[in-house]
Amino acid sequence: MSFGIVPIFGDDGVNQKKFYITTPIYYPNRPPHIGSAYTTVVADILTRYYESLGYDVFFLTGTDEHGMKLYKEAKSAGISPKEYVNRMVPFFKRAWSALNIRYHRFIRTTDPDHEETVKRIVMKVYDRGDIYRGTYRGLYCVECERYYTAKDLVDGKLCPIHLKPVEYLEMEVYYFRLSKYRDQLMDLYINNKRFVLPEERKQYLIRKIEDEGLKDVAITRPKWYLSWGIECPWDQDHVLYVWVDALLNYVSGLGYVSNKENFEKFWPPDIQLIGKDILWFHAVIWPALLMSAGFELPQTIFAHGFLTVDGKKISKSLGTDIDPIDLVRKYGADTVRYYLARAIPFGEDGDFSEKDLVRYHNDELANEIGNLVYRVLTLAERYFDNKVPESTGLSPIDEETLSEVQKRLNEYHDYMRNLQIHHAVMRVVMIAQTINAYLNRTEPWSCWKKGDKETTARIIRNALDWIYILAATMYPFTPETATKISQQLGLNSIPKLSEVRLTGNLSPGHHLGKKQILFRKIS
Ligand code: MSP
Repeated sequence: MSFGIVPIFGDDGVNQKKFYITTPIYYPNRPPHIGSAYTTVVADILTRYYESLGYDVFFLTGTDEHGMKLYKEAKSAGISPKEYVNRMVPFFKRAWSALNIRYHRFIRTTDPDHEETVKRIVMKVYDRGDIYRGTYRGLYCVECERYYTAKDLVDGKLCPIHLKPVEYLEMEVYYFRLSKYRDQLMDLYINNKRFVLPEERKQYLIRKIEDEGLKDVAITRPKWYLSWGIECPWDQDHVLYVWVDALLNYVSGLGYVSNKENFEKFWPPDIQLIGKDILWFHAVIWPALLMSAGFELPQTIFAHGFLTVDGKKISKSLGTDIDPIDLVRKYGADTVRYYLARAIPFGEDGDFSEKDLVRYHNDELANEIGNLVYRVLTLAERYFDNKVPESTGLSPIDEETLSEVQKRLNEYHDYMRNLQIHHAVMRVVMIAQTINAYLNRTEPWSCWKKGDKETTARIIRNALDWIYILAATMYPFTPETATKISQQLGLNSIPKLSEVRLTGNLSPGHHLGKKQILFRKIS
């Protein structure tokens, strides 16, 4: 799947150096699995990337705690919904912490400032005249928390996602005039090339709206049907539909009512990562609500694909709901993060396989990267008393390697900015391969044996300078390893991507740190 190289940010300094990134908020009816970890890891990768470039970043994730699904789960557990979600939230926080995910806020839709924000914003929509009362008759999947029409169903009765029977509902509700925003939405898709990515998903939306039109959407539930939700501010007998409540987390999460300054600074979102199953809500209902309430729209909604595990759907009953914490215990956070970024083309569906994870760990992390760092530090220790050697000038091979490193670094940035993170992480491996090839070609050990200290010094100094670049580029993907490499280079902090140079990163005489094996091979 291709979605074209679309520059997200210019380098002209016109764009404010802020970056607001979100993940969907997860239903805490089950602990997170590797599918939910995937989005959150990618958001963390992008967060660290932009931070390292000097952007002020806000990364929001959290949990979606209202709605019928949660209410039913709590009921069957014999506790109140709030008690139930309180028990579940730590599973998410622990998983994200195990994976070294550092969000700026973990929003819960039961947070008081969120509830206040939602009420204020839906009131704006109401005051705009975009809400009216009506009767809803139709089919609803509680698992998806969404409506279906009969033609969407499998065998005329099952939800196409969960393959469970949908419910027939008939009730008084309030509708949002989504249909009013049809033309504005179509204009947005057509004129704003990066609003929905990948491109194919946008084309799908356009076709769907052209074929089926846009119907108004029911955005409340009467309390007799469901009381676990945010009360509708203009009618106390209703609660707001869980998706309206949930989408507005992206507004409240910045502190719309509790930290106005933060909100003003970061709004609108730069990248909103979602799974492809929730594209309709994010690319249709969400911008329409924002248009109605008078907010600036997000820059990019990126819908990634779905993960399977060993070719099977992720599900508890199939035993494929792998716990990210178990994986981290077994392989370490960096290997899991690296694998997720490296193995699955971002945007496409992909299969999670532990066998492949081990292969990438051994071949790329241990062999290419780990061995390289160990090898160069061993030579620096042996020949130069563990200091960066003094050297001048560059040989033709040095120049050639330098331009190869530069090329890979430029590609790395292009891919990162265009959300082709699987290509970006491969550029990191390519930089390591380039340095390894350089050492094999120049053979510093032979130069040393021949008594050519000057050439040996130049090679080792270059290799160290490029390992410095490696540490900076690895940081978003594998922060623990980037920290270790930086320590082994004798640095107090991880090099920033905004500061790396192609040569001269480390000064002659600089004391290197203690070398250590970065990755043990897994047999
Ligand atoms: N609560 C809503 C989102 C509201 S956002 C305003 C929801 N929650 S969810 O827990 O069901 O899903 C959250 C995200 O996880 C979605 O983006 C979904 O696509 C993603 N994934 C769930 N299973 C997944 C895979 N097997 N693979 C990849 N992503 C997966 O929807």
